[in-house]
Amino acid sequence: MDKPSEIHFCERNIIGLENFTSAEIRGVLDAAKIMKKVVCSDVKKLPNLRGKSIINLFCEPSTRTRTSFELAGKYLGADVISINASTSSIVKGESLRDTLRTVEAMGVDAVVIRHKAEGSAEYASKVIKAIIINAGDGAHAHPSQALLDLFTIEQFKKRLEGLKVAIVGDILHSRVARSDVFGMTKMGMEVHLAGPKTLLPRYFEFDGVQVHDNVEDAIKNADVINVLRIQLERQQAGLFPSPREYARVFGINDERLKLAKDDVLILHPGPQNKGLEISNAVTYGKHSAIHDQVTNGVAVRMALLNLTLCGGEVLV
Ligand code: NCD
Repeated sequence: MDKPSEIHFCERNIIGLENFTSAEIRGVLDAAKIMKKVVCSDVKKLPNLRGKSIINLFCEPSTRTRTSFELAGKYLGADVISINASTSSIVKGESLRDTLRTVEAMGVDAVVIRHKAEGSAEYASKVIKAIIINAGDGAHAHPSQALLDLFTIEQFKKRLEGLKVAIVGDILHSRVARSDVFGMTKMGMEVHLAGPKTLLPRYFEFDGVQVHDNVEDAIKNADVINVLRIQLERQQAGLFPSPREYARVFGINDERLKLAKDDVLILHPGPQNKGLEISNAVTYGKHSAIHDQVTNGVAVRMALLNLTLCGGEVLV
C-alpha cells in the first residue's frame, strides 16, 4: 500500500487553486504519482470509489477534461455518467439550479461541472450537498488543469521551486492561466505572462508574477512555456489582431524557442489552433509534453476524486 503525504483539504469542494495551500497542492501531486502507475498499468481498476456515483455535467464543449474525469472515476471503481448540456433538459430551458437538484435527487456523491458562467461551480456547491469539482467556470478557474500542468512539469524537471515559466497568449479569457498563476506561485515558481495588450490584464501583477507585452522578454531563459489557445468564442470584436499578425508577433515557433533554455518544456492545455499560437513543429517537436499532459490529466483527476470522495486514503 502506497500512501501520499498527509493531506487535509480545507474545503472538500474543488473550486479554484486560490483556496489551496502549497501543502494541499503537494498532497494532490503525490497522490497523482501513485495514480499514474494505475493509468499506465494493464489492469486500470482500483476499488477505492466502489459504490460512489459521479455526474459529469458539461455545459460547454470538452474532449480532454470530460473524458479524463470520466475515466478517472471509472478507474477508481465509481459509477460515472456524463451529461452534455446539448442533449439534456437544459435545452428545454431547465435552470442550472433545477438540473443540479435533479441529479442530487438521484443520490450522486460528486458533480464535476463545466459551465460558461464564472462562479457557477461555487454556486453549485451552495445548491446541493454533493461534492463539487470545477472543470472550468467561464474565464475564472480550471483547477484540475493547473494541477496537471504542475504534475507534468515536475515529472520532467524533477522540481517546481525556482523554475521560470512563461504563459503566453490569451491571458484575459483563460481560466487555465488564472489557475496556473495561483498554483505555480504557491509552489515557488517565477511566472511571466505575455500576450497582446488587449488580452493581458494588469491585475496579475502580484508577487512572483511579471507581465510583458513582448513575448521575447517572457520566454527568455524560460524552463517552461505554457502556450494558451486564442479563445475567439469568449472575445469581443477588436481585442484580437489578425491571425497572421498574432502568429507573427506572439506565435511559439522553433525560431522563438531558441530564446528559452535548451531543455525548455512546452505545454498547451488543448485544443490547439495550429499555426496561430503554436507551430506544428513545436507541437510535435522534442520539447513538447502536450501528449503527456493528457495522460497526466487522468492521474491528477483520479487523485482529486480519491482525495475528495474517500478522505485521502490511496489504496494501490
Ligand atoms: C482549456 C479550457 O477548456 O479551459 N482546455 C482544456 O480544458 N483542456 C483551454 C481552452 O479551451 O483553450
